[in-house]
Amino acid sequence: MAIDRDNWTAPAPTPRDAHPGRVPGALGGSLLYDQPRHAALRAEILAFVAPGSPVAVEVGFDHGITLLDNARTFPSWRWLGVELRRHRVEAVRGHAEAHLPNCLPLRLDARTLFAALLPDDSVDRVDILFPTPVVKGHHLLVTDAFVADVARVLKPDGVLLLMTDVEGLDTWMGACFAEWRPVPVPPRALELSRRERVCRRDGLPVWTRSLAPPR
Ligand SMILES: C[S@@+](CC[C@H](N)C(=O)[O-])C[C@H]1O[C@@H](n2cnc3c(N)ncnc32)[C@H](O)[C@@H]1O
Repeated sequence: MAIDRDNWTAPAPTPRDAHPGRVPGALGGSLLYDQPRHAALRAEILAFVAPGSPVAVEVGFDHGITLLDNARTFPSWRWLGVELRRHRVEAVRGHAEAHLPNCLPLRLDARTLFAALLPDDSVDRVDILFPTPVVKGHHLLVTDAFVADVARVLKPDGVLLLMTDVEGLDTWMGACFAEWRPVPVPPRALELSRRERVCRRDGLPVWTRSLAPPR
């Protein structure tokens, strides 16, 4: 189905079920990660974000341009990336394993990551660059439930960076994060994301919000 980027409005979010922390997301939902054969993934994430140097999460890294460039440019940070598309993740992961020990790209639904896998107060920064303007409620990333999960995981002085070229999505995300405080945009490496390059090339407007959790 073609997406009308100029007139996008959010589909009704699919309600979470009655069990906190169990997210009906893509790739099997969070219950999957309670199964023994997936325990290794949970352990890998917990080891990667264990207390120590600052941790950033990039949601939907796609080709990994910004994830890899940030990991190269800011080696004292740990960069955890999640993406749904298998082939993208495999390519980015191969590069990270060979060259960037501070970068962990995973094939994982961000909603599951924040609801069920990351500990409280474990992350210093979350980047969501050009989230998909979805048309189905069960694909919607930013919802009130997701906002609550990010607030749990992000440290009190952490930063959330949101960028989009879809005005309706900016309006929707602004409403979802209405309680959050505007803060300066965090430093970024030089490479633009793929969508950001398209916007730059075609002269499309981009909306940016940099926010900290409510006090
Ligand atoms: C519009 S693309 C933008 C990609 C990239 N961030 C950029 O700026 O060019 C959105 C990406 O987010 C991924 N994505 C969508 N929903 C996701 C989710 N719930 N968890 C992780 N990745 C997701 C998609 O597979 C896609 O690669």
